[in-house]
Amino acid sequence: MIIVLLQNASFLCTFVWLLQHGRRPEGKAESSGIKDNDQPIHMKEKTNKAFETLDKQHYLQTFRRFPITLAKGKGSRVWDIEGKEYIDVLAGIAVNSVGHCHPNVVKAIQEQAAKLMHISNFYVSEPQAQLAERLTELSGLNRVFFSNSGAESVEGAIKLARKYGKTQGKAGTVISMEGCFHGRTLATIATGKKAMQNGFDPIPSGFKQAKFNDFESVAHVATGDVAAIIVEPVQGEGGINVADKAFLQQLRKLCDEKDIVLIFDEIQTGIGRTGYWFAKDHYGVQPDIMTLAKGLGGGVPIGAFLSSEKIAQAIEFGDHGTTFGGNPLMCAAALAVLQTVEEENLLHAAKEKGEWLKQQFADMHEPSIVKIKGLGLMVGVEFTFETKPLVIEMMHHGVLANATAGNVLRLVPPLNISYDELQTALEAMKKSLEAVKEHA
Ligand SMILES: Cc1ncc(COP(=O)(O)O)c(C=O)c1O
Repeated sequence: MIIVLLQNASFLCTFVWLLQHGRRPEGKAESSGIKDNDQPIHMKEKTNKAFETLDKQHYLQTFRRFPITLAKGKGSRVWDIEGKEYIDVLAGIAVNSVGHCHPNVVKAIQEQAAKLMHISNFYVSEPQAQLAERLTELSGLNRVFFSNSGAESVEGAIKLARKYGKTQGKAGTVISMEGCFHGRTLATIATGKKAMQNGFDPIPSGFKQAKFNDFESVAHVATGDVAAIIVEPVQGEGGINVADKAFLQQLRKLCDEKDIVLIFDEIQTGIGRTGYWFAKDHYGVQPDIMTLAKGLGGGVPIGAFLSSEKIAQAIEFGDHGTTFGGNPLMCAAALAVLQTVEEENLLHAAKEKGEWLKQQFADMHEPSIVKIKGLGLMVGVEFTFETKPLVIEMMHHGVLANATAGNVLRLVPPLNISYDELQTALEAMKKSLEAVKEHA
C-alpha cells in the first residue's frame, strides 16, 4: 500500500515537473543552447536582444539589421517584441501600402486559405483570373504573368523582351540606367551598379548602362543589338530620383523608331504609391512591359509583369514558368489590396499627403537639407550627410524610416497613414536631426 502511494506521488511530481519544465505551449519557439556571453537565453524571454542573438546565430549575415524584433502591426504602426510602438514610414520598403494587417486583406487571406491556397499554374484559379483581368484593365496592358518577387518579375520581363527581340533578329542587349535598382538575382544585378556584382562573376552578359534623365546618353548606346530599355519612373533605391517627362517621352519615341522594348520597373512606384495606379500615368507614356511587386500584395510575396499583346506574342508554350507565382492565396490578397486602394480613395490620399509632407520639409528651412524630391507618397529628403545615423536616432524616437543612396532619407509610408501620424513622425525626425547634428 505504502509502496503504491509512494509510486503515485512520484508519478505526480514527475508529471507536475514536466508540465512546468518539460513541455511548452504548442508553436512557441524554445532555444536550444543559444548563448550570449556564454549565458543561455531562454526564448521565453521575449526580448529584442534574445531574438537578435538567435538571428545572428542562424540567419545568413547579409543584412545589417536594426536591433529590434517586430512582433505586431496595425495600420501605420508596429510594435516590437517588448511592446514599444513605432510609426512605420518605411512600410516594409513600400510594401504595406494599405497599412499593416488591413482587415480587408486579412479577411481575404483567411477566407482563401480556408478554401484553396495553392494549385500550381497547370490550372486556372478564380483569384488569379480576376487579378489578371483587373491589372490589365487598370494598366492598359494586355497580358500578365505572376511571380513571387520584384527581381523575378524583372527577370521575366527581360526574358520576354529578349524573346521578342529574337523575333526581330536582334541580340538581346538591355540598357539600364545609372542609379537603377532592379533586384538581387544574377540578371538583375547585371543591370545595376558594379559594387553589387563584386564577387559574383561571371555576371550574365548583354547589359549596358546609360545616364538617367540624359536622353543623349541612352541614344548613344542604343545600337542595333539593343532589345530593351529598362527604367524606373522614380528611382527608389537610387535616392528617389524622379524621371523627367521629356526623358520618358523621348525613350518611348526611340523605342518606337528602333522596335526596342520599353520596360518600366514599377515595383516600387506601382499600385498607387505615386498618386496614380502607376507612375507611368504621370507621364502619359505607355511602356511595352511593366513590372510590379511590393505594394501589390499588401504584404504577401507577389510580383507581376504585364505586357502589350504585340510583345507577348513572342512567348511560346514552355518559355517561362513558376510553381508558386500567382497562387490563389497571393492573388486573393492582391485583389483585396486593389479594392482597398479604391474604397479608401488612396490615389488621392497619396498625392495630397505626399505634397503636404514635402511642404513640411520645405518649411523647416533646414540648412542640412539639400533637396526634397519624390512623387506622391514616395518622398526623398537629401541631406548634406549620411542619413543612416538619422534613421537609427528616429528608431529610438519611435519612427521607422530608411536611408538610401547614402544621404537620402526615404519615406514611403502606408498610403492611408493619418496626418496625425505623419506629424508625429515629423516631430520625431526633427528631434532626431538635432541629436544627430549635436553628435556630428
Ligand atoms: C524598382 C525595384 N525593382 C526591383 C526590386 C526588387 O524587388 P525584390 O526585392 O522583391 O526582388 C526593387 C526592390 O527594392 C525595386 O525597388
